[in-house]
Amino acid sequence: MELDTLTKKHDEARQGESFHPVTVLKSSGIRKFYIESYGCAMNFADSEVVASILQGVGYSGTGDFTEADLILINTCSIREKAEQTVRSRLHIFRQAKRSKPSMLIAVLGCMAERLKSKFLEEEKLVDLVVGPDAYRTLPVLIGEAEGGQKSVNVLLSRDETYADIAPVRLNSNGVNAFVSIMRGCNNMCSFCVVPFTRGRERSRHPDSILAECRNLFENGYREVTLLGQNVDSYHWHSGMEGEPAVVFSSLLENVAEVSPLLRVRFSTSHPKDITDDVLHTMARYDNICNNIHLPVQSGSTRVLQRMNRTYTREWYLSKIKRIRELIPDCGISSDIISGFCGETEEDHQETLSLIRESCFDFSYMYFYSERPGTLAARRYPDDIPEEEKKRRLDEIIKLQRKFSEESNRNDIGTISNVLIEGDSKKSSSDWMGRNDQNKVVVFPKDETGLQKGDYASLKIVHSTGGTLIGKVC
Ligand code: SAH
Ligand code: SF4
Ligand code: F3S
Repeated sequence: MELDTLTKKHDEARQGESFHPVTVLKSSGIRKFYIESYGCAMNFADSEVVASILQGVGYSGTGDFTEADLILINTCSIREKAEQTVRSRLHIFRQAKRSKPSMLIAVLGCMAERLKSKFLEEEKLVDLVVGPDAYRTLPVLIGEAEGGQKSVNVLLSRDETYADIAPVRLNSNGVNAFVSIMRGCNNMCSFCVVPFTRGRERSRHPDSILAECRNLFENGYREVTLLGQNVDSYHWHSGMEGEPAVVFSSLLENVAEVSPLLRVRFSTSHPKDITDDVLHTMARYDNICNNIHLPVQSGSTRVLQRMNRTYTREWYLSKIKRIRELIPDCGISSDIISGFCGETEEDHQETLSLIRESCFDFSYMYFYSERPGTLAARRYPDDIPEEEKKRRLDEIIKLQRKFSEESNRNDIGTISNVLIEGDSKKSSSDWMGRNDQNKVVVFPKDETGLQKGDYASLKIVHSTGGTLIGKVC
């Protein structure tokens, strides 16, 4: 029910905007879809587009896959483990299909793109394989599959951005939403499968991005995260001679102008592309959160070169310095890979020393997982034994944990502006929210009269593990 109401609200508020939402048919409730998503935020955002397309042809959502007529699994290929997780979920869905043979199983997303029709050979009970740029064809493909035909569409596009489709917010807390601003990636980091699964980079029309953000705000949302694999290369041009292009810093500014009460975040930034203009814009607007996710991957220039990241250790460190100069309280997080092809102990030590120099507030850390078809898989032997990759990863995680804890300890005694997202996981008598730097803060509801979606000014009094404890001041 909530799904229907929200979509309609989206559509109504979008009248007169420069895009055309899919027609939402009154949900008959006869056919039900269940969707499960893996991987990055962009995949989760795509699932909301898929939900909108399915509602447009009369499906309604269910949270129970056993009662679904159509199970969709939106997959990730970034590491082998991500693919294993999907395969084990498919085993479970297959059992459900055995007791309800009319049920269709659809594999969407990056794994669908990577394996294409091979998926149907490997997983016999899968009925549809649909790549990230082919979701508009889902209704046709479902029709084919209902007729007993296996269906595959994995065509990548140079211009699909789903700009005109109003996403149906799934599992939403009504406060934060993801807004996709671009798709694909033109970088060729040698370890990465994304350019092969998501295709060429393309930017979404700024008017449709702004309309979506306004609409979210009018519907009570208080935070948007602008999404792209490399948001700093956002670039949109109308094609009209003499008109300036819209670049990321101007888009960010326009979104920040929607309302001072709407927080704006973005992810991911590539160290080679983040500009001073973006940093100045962040510094100028209070509602653009002071937080940058700036994946480094390795602290060794030699490894960075093999990874084809196109920057050096020194370049990366100079970016960190610049961010702290222009936005002194900026939270900075990173992604790090251990055990990339040919990584020596010395390279690993350089990664540890870069973590020490950068003082990241937080990092996502992984050991290298070779992906078939990537530049690294073709060029370099995956020569670090898994045990060694894991030992190095363990050292990276331990060191990062020290910095994360120190960063949290440094917050004790400071005042944070926290956007309330809902009840804390542990107790319904506490609120949970995040501060500007994206840190989770928990505080007692007491008699504050505050509600979900409100901002609270909190004094940080304590920190436990990854969470800050605050009190209203
Ligand atoms: N576009 C983002 C990252 C997208 S993938 C960027 O350029 O920073 C998210 C993270 O997964 C990457 O930053 C990287 O740290 C990790 N990753 C990607 N491919 C990987 C692989 N083959 N093995 C291990 N980790 C990988
Ligand atoms: Fe992958 Fe590099 Fe593109 Fe990020 S920038 S998605 S790591 S190729
Ligand atoms: Fe995974 Fe595809 Fe995202 S590989 S990380 S779901 S772009």
